[in-house]
Amino acid sequence: MKTRLLEIEDLSVHFHTPEGVARAVDGVGFHLDAGETVGLVGESGCGKSVTSLSILGLVSAPPGRIESGEIKFAGQNLLDLDAEGLRKIRGNQISMIFQEPMTSLNPVLPIGRQVAEPLMLHRRLGKNDALKEAARWLDHVKIPAAEKRLDSYPHELSGGMRQRVMIAMAMVCGPKLLIADEPTTALDVTIQAQILSLMIRLKQELDMALLLITHDLGVVAQMAARVVVMYAGQIVEKASVADIFDRPFHPYTRGLLKSMPRIGTQQIGPKKRLNEIPGIVPVLTQIITGCKFADRCPHAFETCRKSQPQLVTIGTGHRARCWLHDYPERRTNDI
Ligand SMILES: Nc1ncnc2c1ncn2[C@@H]1O[C@H](COP(=O)(O)OP(=O)(O)O)[C@@H](O)[C@H]1O
Ligand SMILES: [Mg+2]
Repeated sequence: MKTRLLEIEDLSVHFHTPEGVARAVDGVGFHLDAGETVGLVGESGCGKSVTSLSILGLVSAPPGRIESGEIKFAGQNLLDLDAEGLRKIRGNQISMIFQEPMTSLNPVLPIGRQVAEPLMLHRRLGKNDALKEAARWLDHVKIPAAEKRLDSYPHELSGGMRQRVMIAMAMVCGPKLLIADEPTTALDVTIQAQILSLMIRLKQELDMALLLITHDLGVVAQMAARVVVMYAGQIVEKASVADIFDRPFHPYTRGLLKSMPRIGTQQIGPKKRLNEIPGIVPVLTQIITGCKFADRCPHAFETCRKSQPQLVTIGTGHRARCWLHDYPERRTNDI
């Protein structure tokens, strides 16, 4: 039987800025079962990072504020925990890795010490034992000559190697959940593939759940069982990977799929992306009465601009937020 590990319900996170209130996360809800991989996708500025930072109480407040919701992890609402309570979970039961390891690694501490730290903090290991375990982990994430590398500083490593250090640091305590926020975006394609296969291997070994945040649906196809699509702070579609690829409902999801480079398709030029969705994500301080995607949607009609669609069930485990569900006659062949 599946065990529910993480359950986010009706989460809203706003940023109170001089320009107004930015609704970065607006009523978001999804879950992860133990050992499962869920992909959280959407363009830049859709609220993916803020959603994931909320889980570990890392939203900068002010200007950020959690306005409503629950984040239940193993049955406990993380939003009820104080700083000390969260510290006990962070790096222990839930770990996080980010796009740019240079911002998360401490530039003035040797990497061995950094990988050893969670073990000293959460497992109460002495320094020598923790460093031994750190060397084992650096070796496990395939850092060559791991033991010698314990004394290296982050700037002495390549981007790919730094990301491996981050992964080792996140894994040493055997977390139940790993949150990876664009873990390979800053890396070139070959290194990206290596890091992804490393993550797949470790996930299987540790039987941990993975919340994988990316704007790359190709990565999701390779890694995830289910997908949550966010647009302008809201979930617009969630489904199994198979449904997202075979039966995408929301025009935004379809747009993301169309903008995916495919093997065998010729890139027109290094900067030109194929079939990019026209327009940009709206500024989140803007009040939008209708569907937030209407301005960019090739299928938008009057209702879409007037009132906001709800997330409705359109198949088993498949939900979407689009008025086309209520107006099937408006669905054309390409949708
Ligand atoms: N520190 C901040 N101050 C003000 N607004 C913020 C801050 N962090 C995030 N936001 C708002 O939240 C939105 C979503 O950000 P983010 O979650 O980082 O997007 P994503 O990860 O999907 O690219 C941003 O577009 C911005 O409006
Ligand atoms: Mg982000």
